[in-house]
Amino acid sequence: MSEYVPTIELSSLEPGSMRRIEVNGAPVLLVRQGDEVFALHDRCTHEEFPLSDGWLDEHRLVCSYHGAQYNIKTGEALALPAYENVKTWPVRVVNGIIEINMKAD
Ligand code: FES
Repeated sequence: MSEYVPTIELSSLEPGSMRRIEVNGAPVLLVRQGDEVFALHDRCTHEEFPLSDGWLDEHRLVCSYHGAQYNIKTGEALALPAYENVKTWPVRVVNGIIEINMKAD
């Protein structure tokens, strides 16, 4: 059985935009760059505010609260005050639907 969970239509997420959704009760931030989509936990590892309140700076996601930055592809913390990476999940697009593997580590 597939571990991937269908979420929203790719066409509903404009390139260069992001959207918060919930998958299996978890807050997930979808980020689209070109035809690629990334899924990150919508919780800053600094003080757990939502990263969906932040903004994109090319491949960086900037937390609006205290300025932490993360790599949208890997979740790597790129700027203090965050020093822990944010969780990411594998994404695929099947028949125009964004699917996320929530069980992957
Ligand atoms: S909560 Fe994100 S930088 Fe502090």
